[in-house]
Amino acid sequence: MRSEQVRASAPGKIILFGEHAVVYGRPAIAAPVTQVQATATVQPAPPGAGFTIAAPDIGQVFSFATKTSTAAPDDPLAVAVQLVLADLSVEAPDATLTIRSTIPIASGLGSGAAVATALVRALAAYLGRPLAPDQISALVYQVEKLHHGTPSGIDNTVIAYEQPIYFVRKPAKDPAGFPVGLIERLIVGAPLILVIGDTGLPSPTKQIVAQVRRTRERDPARCDARLDQIGDVAVSARHAIEAGDVDTLGPLMDENHALLIELGVSSPKLNAVVEAARIAGAIGAKLSGAGHGGNMIALVQRQKDAADVIEALKETGAKNVICTTIQSTLPQVQK
Ligand code: PMV
Repeated sequence: MRSEQVRASAPGKIILFGEHAVVYGRPAIAAPVTQVQATATVQPAPPGAGFTIAAPDIGQVFSFATKTSTAAPDDPLAVAVQLVLADLSVEAPDATLTIRSTIPIASGLGSGAAVATALVRALAAYLGRPLAPDQISALVYQVEKLHHGTPSGIDNTVIAYEQPIYFVRKPAKDPAGFPVGLIERLIVGAPLILVIGDTGLPSPTKQIVAQVRRTRERDPARCDARLDQIGDVAVSARHAIEAGDVDTLGPLMDENHALLIELGVSSPKLNAVVEAARIAGAIGAKLSGAGHGGNMIALVQRQKDAADVIEALKETGAKNVICTTIQSTLPQVQK
């Protein structure tokens, strides 16, 4: 029996540009958000105790063993454990794995992918076989399928690599079924100060992705034109981010939000919060993630502008307002 516990964490994430279009092969940009975190701790248990998963924040405790699991077969935590054990060709150890998370669920901040990433990291390290970001990302992608149905792979990638990324999904798959994506670390020329506001409304990714699919089936030419435009905005945004051209990025965020409205994934509440941010001095704002509810992001020029935007978002009913700085190295933590 191991004597020491192993702990690992994973950040939340935001999509800066290109959500939904990324599912259809257009480029997108995402960055980690370190102010919210999922943490997994693996503690040794006496021989014969078996493997137990505890997720107190969501009121779940279940025993897990390869043959006699009390978890539902499609439970994301149990599936993540199974994937790690299968990947490393080992039996479940006698241990307790505890998951904690400060990332709001179903709000576009990558809660599911972060929880799975923390779990995979901690369990693999506990078993003495720490995994590299690409291996973690591939395993978490399998778990993401339970949440999303047809995930693009951007959430698991940005969270496993913990870097701002430019991501393009490719239709080709590797033998494990992971969509081979173009993943490029993004050089952020000047820090991006972002205010993130949660509408407090749920953002059920799977349903909204399915809604876009139906829209596309009804009128492929019109929908594809929107997706192309979103992809073009993401390409322009990449150049602006790399050049440190913050002034250009604001209008690109506005343009991306307008295209997401046309795609039918925004909502009156999201539009109200986005508008409030702009009036309060943000140089651009958009929904982030699947839409309908969940989070929006607003870009400000200077740190001192953030306070006005935070105030305006709260007045418009936003919850959990966070200010974060995106840069090439790990993002700074600010409160
Ligand atoms: O789960 P969310 O809200 O971060 O949305 C994911 C982004 C989508 O582009 C809508 C879906 C995907 O798989 O990329």
